[in-house]
Amino acid sequence: MTSKPAPSPAPRQPGARRRPAQPAQQDRRARQDADAQGQAALAELGLPAGASIELLQALHILTREGRLNQDSRRKLKQVLHLVQFIEPLIHDIDRQRSAESAQSAQSAKSADATADAGPVLVDHGAGKSYLGFILYDLVLRPLGRGRVIGVEWRPALVAQSQALAQRQGFARMDFLPMAVADAQQHPALPARVDIVTALHACDTATDDAIAFGLAKRAQAMVLVPCCQAEVAAHLRRNKALQLARTPLAELWRHPLHTRELGSHVTNVMRCLYLQACGYQVTVTELTGWEHSMKNELIIARWSGQRQRSARERLQAMAEQLGLQQWLQQRFALPAPAQEKP
Ligand SMILES: C[S@@+](CC[C@H](N)C(=O)[O-])C[C@H]1O[C@@H](n2cnc3c(N)ncnc32)[C@H](O)[C@@H]1O
Repeated sequence: MTSKPAPSPAPRQPGARRRPAQPAQQDRRARQDADAQGQAALAELGLPAGASIELLQALHILTREGRLNQDSRRKLKQVLHLVQFIEPLIHDIDRQRSAESAQSAQSAKSADATADAGPVLVDHGAGKSYLGFILYDLVLRPLGRGRVIGVEWRPALVAQSQALAQRQGFARMDFLPMAVADAQQHPALPARVDIVTALHACDTATDDAIAFGLAKRAQAMVLVPCCQAEVAAHLRRNKALQLARTPLAELWRHPLHTRELGSHVTNVMRCLYLQACGYQVTVTELTGWEHSMKNELIIARWSGQRQRSARERLQAMAEQLGLQQWLQQRFALPAPAQEKP
């Protein structure tokens, strides 16, 4: 079959003006341009073509014209790096939950409705919820189950995230206006939570997130701590005593060193604590140092092996640094009877 050539447009008369596009046409063209730019930006970021351009625009990662917003690029890089670690955890836990659900159905018990609903992730100190939204769009939306709950104590940010989730039709996202420390007992949160995240949650909010994860028997915790002032305050208080006792107190003689050492000691002790409580811990970098000063990523996976040696090292370290009181206040250690050597 031969097709007729398309009729060519009538030649424009010399001097004739091009008719200006109608507003609707202009709108459509602008939308098409933004979409094409957005698709190019997704490819540049290594995101799948199905990722929501509208969501990235609402999070100000893409401009209205679909171009990459250079200021937000750094945030997106951090979040995408975290997603690489969290995505396999979500799939592992989802498989585990589906198997549990099938087993309980087979043994004629009523099927576990919470297992069918997929993994539950709670993001503490959620801020604008970049992490929650990107995780939902890239992982939980295609999975078709699972829930993200953002905990954030600034009500305006919570309202903003709720509105965005509604606009995007992300029905399995919730945002709760509360302090991390109050979330553990709050009835709006489920009894069991699979994954706990805290990305740059300020000061002791990371410690509250760890306590939350332990209480909810989380399978995994993914933590990027921010600065922590509590340990530095204890180091400062005991400085004169420690300088007389050990030359290692020189490590925190100067105020700047006290602050930096305080943050470092806190993270080391958090890791030992998680190991003592039955988690396997990995410590790595979030992104290159040029992108964030607070760059330590702690990934803890439940192994059920409460390590006695970790508890003993934690207690010895606290004693050396004069932090016994802080340790007692902050970390509830497991009873020795539950431990493995
Ligand atoms: C540095 S921002 C990080 C936000 C987000 N996680 C991110 O990385 O984009 C820290 C957020 O945690 C919130 N926050 C700090 N301490 C908190 C607490 N104890 N309880 C609830 N929210 C807290 C702050 O209001 C802020 O929005």
